[in-house]
Amino acid sequence: MATDSNTKKVALVTGSANGIGKAIVRKLASDGYAVVINDLEFNKEKAEAFAEELKAQGHEASVLFADVSDFEQVKSMVNSLERLDVMVANAAVVAPVDFITDDHIDGWQKTFDVNLKGHLLCYKFAAIKMIAQGWGGRIIGASSIVGRKPEPGRMTYSATKWAIRGLTQQAAYELGKHNITVNCYAPGLINSELAQQYMASSPQAAELMNTVIKSQAVGRIGEPEDVAQLVSFLASEGAGFITGQTVSIDGGIVFT
Ligand SMILES: NC(=O)c1ccc[n+]([C@@H]2O[C@H](COP(=O)([O-])OP(=O)(O)OC[C@H]3O[C@@H](n4cnc5c(N)ncnc54)[C@H](O)[C@@H]3O)[C@@H](O)[C@H]2O)c1
Repeated sequence: MATDSNTKKVALVTGSANGIGKAIVRKLASDGYAVVINDLEFNKEKAEAFAEELKAQGHEASVLFADVSDFEQVKSMVNSLERLDVMVANAAVVAPVDFITDDHIDGWQKTFDVNLKGHLLCYKFAAIKMIAQGWGGRIIGASSIVGRKPEPGRMTYSATKWAIRGLTQQAAYELGKHNITVNCYAPGLINSELAQQYMASSPQAAELMNTVIKSQAVGRIGEPEDVAQLVSFLASEGAGFITGQTVSIDGGIVFT
């Protein structure tokens, strides 16, 4: 990519005060990007402490609070950046355990708003900015193993993660001519706050997660750093011919 070489490349990672997003920010900072940490304002202390930690290590880091499900907030967050080279739409919420036979759809709207609309808005405003810059870019989203295969009790969450794969393909198809690639990662079980919260949410959820680990080829839980390594590659110059893909990072659960 022929870029503006006067300023450092910028990578924005949503939902990065915690877990996988935080590990991605750390890795992209060490790859040489000026990193922008995004999260909800209630995570202010964590996000700002993280930015300070990165700055103390000599990295360029800043924090922007925005709810990824809010059109105007995502638009102004992206527009406030001097430049944008890598957008990682990572933020999501996990829906409570739910089944098709439940007599309610609690959690459906919020899960779709944050996970799917959140990805749409991040992809959209990143694409608009990258096209205007004129040198291309990388857009990376977060699907899941349950965006590839069903698991009991994951109905709503799984539906959002399947939809993110479709959104990724559609955006990749539209944006290739602008030298913008769009891919997403599909983690299996990764040791983050979200996974710990889910496992603690009910005995059913904990049992389900243990079954997942037993079914993997690599018999350990994944770490956020495993996903960060993949994102680092997808963001790199060398990944310029990969687009529209959902890349599994699951210790060998789904073989495609
Ligand atoms: N951990 C896993 O096992 C696993 C597996 C498959 C996919 N994933 C996906 O990976 C991504 C990261 O997951 P994680 O495990 O690190 O989650 P996490 O809960 O540890 O971190 C998610 C972050 O997103 C933030 N966030 C939530 N709603 C937001 C909003 N509306 N706007 C901005 N920020 C918001 C949260 O405050 C949190 O800091 C998610 O998309 C998740 O669905 C995780």
